Amino acid sequence: MKSSEIRSIFLDFFTGKGHLVMPSFSLIPQNDPTLLLIGAGMAPLKPYFSGERKPPHTRIATCQKCVRTPDIDRVGHTGRHATFFEMLGNFSFGDYFKEEAIEWAWEFVREILRLPAERLWVSVFEEDDESYNIWRERIGLPAERIVRLGREDNFWEIGTGGPCGPCSEIYYDLGAEEGCGRANCIPGCDCDRYLEIWNLVFTQFNREPSGELTLLKQKNIDTGAGLERLATVMQGVTSFYETDLFKPLMAYFVDLAGGAELDGSGKVSLRIVTEHSRGIAFLVGDGVLPSNEGRGYVLRRLIRRAARHGRLIGLEGSFLAGVVPLLAELMGSVYPELRERRDFIMQVIATEEERFQETLAMGIDILDDYIQELKQKGEKCLPGELAFKLYDTYGFPLDLTAEILKEHGMTVDRHTFNRHLSEQQRRAREARAASESGGKTDSAYAAARDLETVFTGYDRLEEEAEISLILVNGDARERASAGESVEIFLNRTPFYAEAGGQIGDSGVIEAKGGRAVIARAFFTPSGQIVHEGKVQSGHLSTGDRVAARVESVRRRGVCRSHTATHLLHRALKDILGEHVNQAGSLVAPDRLRFDFTHFKALSPEEKRQVEKTVNKVILENLPVTAEQMTLSEARRRGAVALFTEKYDQDAVRVISAGDYSKELCGGTHVKATGEIGLFRLISEEGIGSGLRRIEALTGMEAYRQAAADASLLQELALKWKVAPEQLLLKAEELLEANRELERLNRQLKERLHGYTVKSLLSGVEVVEGVNVLCSAVNAESFEELRGMTDLIKNSLPSVVAVLGAVHEGKVMLVGTVTDDLVKRGLQANKIIAAAARRVGGGGGGRPGMAQAGGKDPAALPQALRLVKDLVREQLAAGSEAGGPQEK
Ligand code: ALA
Repeated sequence: MKSSEIRSIFLDFFTGKGHLVMPSFSLIPQNDPTLLLIGAGMAPLKPYFSGERKPPHTRIATCQKCVRTPDIDRVGHTGRHATFFEMLGNFSFGDYFKEEAIEWAWEFVREILRLPAERLWVSVFEEDDESYNIWRERIGLPAERIVRLGREDNFWEIGTGGPCGPCSEIYYDLGAEEGCGRANCIPGCDCDRYLEIWNLVFTQFNREPSGELTLLKQKNIDTGAGLERLATVMQGVTSFYETDLFKPLMAYFVDLAGGAELDGSGKVSLRIVTEHSRGIAFLVGDGVLPSNEGRGYVLRRLIRRAARHGRLIGLEGSFLAGVVPLLAELMGSVYPELRERRDFIMQVIATEEERFQETLAMGIDILDDYIQELKQKGEKCLPGELAFKLYDTYGFPLDLTAEILKEHGMTVDRHTFNRHLSEQQRRAREARAASESGGKTDSAYAAARDLETVFTGYDRLEEEAEISLILVNGDARERASAGESVEIFLNRTPFYAEAGGQIGDSGVIEAKGGRAVIARAFFTPSGQIVHEGKVQSGHLSTGDRVAARVESVRRRGVCRSHTATHLLHRALKDILGEHVNQAGSLVAPDRLRFDFTHFKALSPEEKRQVEKTVNKVILENLPVTAEQMTLSEARRRGAVALFTEKYDQDAVRVISAGDYSKELCGGTHVKATGEIGLFRLISEEGIGSGLRRIEALTGMEAYRQAAADASLLQELALKWKVAPEQLLLKAEELLEANRELERLNRQLKERLHGYTVKSLLSGVEVVEGVNVLCSAVNAESFEELRGMTDLIKNSLPSVVAVLGAVHEGKVMLVGTVTDDLVKRGLQANKIIAAAARRVGGGGGGRPGMAQAGGKDPAALPQALRLVKDLVREQLAAGSEAGGPQEK
């Protein structure tokens, strides 16, 4: 049975049991800061388990794409661990419970998949007699096929908390030859014999943030069957690499690597490349971009791991990007994003692969230096902090460091490395916790959970409404008085709550007896609009009839920026290519920030073109309209949707600016593009791999900026006494004049140095027959000092010269030793190193020439006095070693 058939018969089976089939959700969790990535079918459905949110149906079934990385180290070594997989699941939200969940799962595996009963085993949670009895009595499974397991195996929950419960798992016996051979080997054993194919979770509990387990209001079912594992069983193989999901991908890589059969570690590497390539493509397809933190880091890690293992089996270049077309062909009918964004996905992956090649080259260079140093010192273990530096600064994986060291018979101090790593992780965790607690949680708004607020602000800026709730410091209050900070909830409101990058409205809420100034409006986690502000006069009470008025000047500025954002998005796609996608935005009054996917900096010409195009569309004064339609209708009409956004299938809002731009959007806009007035692109910069940011101004802000630029030109013209249009010419003249002055200055300095050196020569001392010259001089750079030592060498064919200078509080030392004296054992690098220590610094060089910096100008005379002693010591050491050495 093909894996595509397993997918569809599963969903059909549960449609027959009254389930609503929903398409897979994005791998990026929506409104769930506790999760990095979706790792289970139930994860995107979390709010439905508590009953807090009403699901579209009480029975749902999905085939959900998932990414999980805790088992990443087992990938390739086993045939059942993956970082990316598809989870088939059926869910009940306060509808059916254990009996149906177990009966239907059994019906599906026995009657639909026709798996032989003698191969099937189940496990139940050791305290769960109810499930045991259902399996034993209703299903009639023999007692010896039901294993009771502990919390570790049979209580299912996500590490970060949420809906959870005891579970019961169905296992398939792959046969004794796959197992550990122990007599007591049963499901739960760590070997490969019993493959868990389906997990039925009886979701009755909630793991609170405090760690406490509380009872949910309703009983739920959450199940998960790994498609890859079902395919393994149904296709009569023992690892999912042999199924139709992986085989074509694996063949592609084998071909690319030269076609030879791989075994041992080569086979593991091949499996890792194949397995990771799927997750990599799917993550990028859902809008994740490689970075050093969060989801981006999971992606970067997968790419680097795959790239490195690819290298081990002879894969070169952008082989991960290269497999995407094949993957899109294999899975594009179920996951259309792979087809739609194919080129984009390939480009993101290729860019990261290239970057990693550079990283590798750089890291290998640095590691080579470390290895040379270790060899010189006769040591065999690389200190953990150096390995950590390679990892942290150059993205060089530890196992690669270890691998290269091994080739030189060396090891790495993993213990110290791990200490540095966990220290860094701790810091990252703390930073994350601090930023997350900045947003309030759902429970802070528990009192508001059932309120409904009608938003009327698309058409109106003023609304008659009633206060439904007042919160002061999170507590519900009948009444709030002048001076108190409040959060007000209304039954209807014209205030736009911050969403989709558009900032929330400000304004006033006014009742007969009082008035509050509202600083901003935003959504609670469960979707009510909060008006945050301060009572300015009198008092406001629950139930008051009020006038809610949005600050219109500010709102109009926001509308200008928001519509301009859409025009900018369209212009970027037209000018740079369809791979440009919005990755984030901030829409503020007459000011906007727009983040988008693109792979290099915009040229000045591209920037001019973008700005000009947007301004042309503004001048055309195209009507801006909003329409409701289904998601598929919107797609049919070519509306631009955002990758990372989750849209309602049945009703989306489409904003059109004439025929120029069409975009899914919930924000507020001008009525016609002409209202934007003027658009100025202020800056464009890179903010991450494949991500760029544009900042722009609209309306009066754009005008102000233009006026400021113009007056700057006026002032400059006045200062330089030319007409503004001659400024460029004038600037060039001045630069040329400046270059000439610099040249003259250099000449004069050289002449001056000539005089200095001449007078220095009279201070030459003779130490054991060697000319030694050391002195403090005036110089502003190492280059000048080196120039002077060259002059000294021109006058004295045999000399040790050390010059020091102080510039801007820093000491500079330069030393030179002529070749004849180098042969007698004198070394400028050692002399300078010792002198530099006196002035609190260090440096380096060769025996003939060396330089160093220092921090302590007061110690310079001492450092210079040291030179003669150093010369004496080195000469003595040289003669002990047997006199002058010929090389
Ligand atoms: N949520 C359960 C799991 O992921 C079904 O195993």
